[in-house]
Amino acid sequence: MLKKDTRYYFFSGKGGVGKTSIATATALQFAKNKNKTLIISTDPAHSLSDSFEVKIGGEIKKLTKNLFAVEIDPEKAAEEYKKKLTPEIEKIESLKDMGLDSVFDTVGNAPGIDEIAAFDKFLQYLNSKDYDVIVFDTAPTGHALRFLSLPDVLDSWIGRVIKIRMKLSGVINIFKKLLPFTEESPSIGTEHLEEIKKRIEEARKTLSNPDKTHYNIVMIPEEMSIAESERAVNTLKSYGIPVKTIIINQIIPENPRCDFCTEKRRLQLKRIESIRKKFRNFKIIEIPLFKEEIKGFSALEKLGRYLISKP
Ligand SMILES: Nc1ncnc2c1ncn2[C@@H]1O[C@H](COP(=O)(O)OP(=O)(O)OP(=O)(O)O)[C@@H](O)[C@H]1O
Ligand SMILES: [Mg+2]
Repeated sequence: MLKKDTRYYFFSGKGGVGKTSIATATALQFAKNKNKTLIISTDPAHSLSDSFEVKIGGEIKKLTKNLFAVEIDPEKAAEEYKKKLTPEIEKIESLKDMGLDSVFDTVGNAPGIDEIAAFDKFLQYLNSKDYDVIVFDTAPTGHALRFLSLPDVLDSWIGRVIKIRMKLSGVINIFKKLLPFTEESPSIGTEHLEEIKKRIEEARKTLSNPDKTHYNIVMIPEEMSIAESERAVNTLKSYGIPVKTIIINQIIPENPRCDFCTEKRRLQLKRIESIRKKFRNFKIIEIPLFKEEIKGFSALEKLGRYLISKP
């Protein structure tokens, strides 16, 4: 049987609206429906472990038969990344003696390297062909969008680094002639950079392909959340990423015995009306505010039933 392409699910929205709960519930639902599913947290303040009530971490962990999870650790990713980028030439003692090693250190310490490292890790998972579904739990809106704008930044940055590297390798060869005792042949690590560039190109295509990538905006029925979501939809559009689904979370259920709830619900229903008008061409999913906290598999399953009926 021909294997179907991996589908990707993103959930974006303001802090605390329910992104992590919805992402984990979605992943669980897909896994229950026999899709091999990976959920990845790219939020430096990870909460997948809390949501599933299982300790996860920087390595992929199997949670159920079809469900896998990983929390990208930005610090660890940055460290690994610097190691890869730091060319072997830095290890050559003769260069150190001449005080030239600092010249080669600039790449590993370039500004934004931590973010780029996390993005590189993200790209590795994005391009992995091992899963039917990959769900991303991202940081609140601003961060998630910054993450997606990184390919452009990274692209020009890598181009620059490659040029510097080429020049350096020329210099090194001259040094090698002058200093025949230089031990090893230096690796300049350009292959790795070229590889990242290729991955970025692929990521761009994947992220803007609506058959593969499903970008969901999570909001609560409040004015500020609506305005924020409108901005997010427009920004994503400018990156070529179409949003199809709006999820309205934490809708207060009817309760005639509670004046406070009734009033709050009345206001929320007004907001929901305006969301329906503003986002006329979007699929809208409504989720009630549950009495209990959304933690652990059984609560996530309950939430998941609102999210995908037939994945
Ligand atoms: N529909 C709901 N009913 C009840 N509680 C909910 C609902 N949705 C989310 N919560 C609760 O709200 C809190 C915040 O949810 P969650 O962590 O999923 O939000 P988030 O958008 O990921 O937050 P952050 O921006 O900090 O990452 C959690 O304690 C969660 O259990
Ligand atoms: Mg979260």
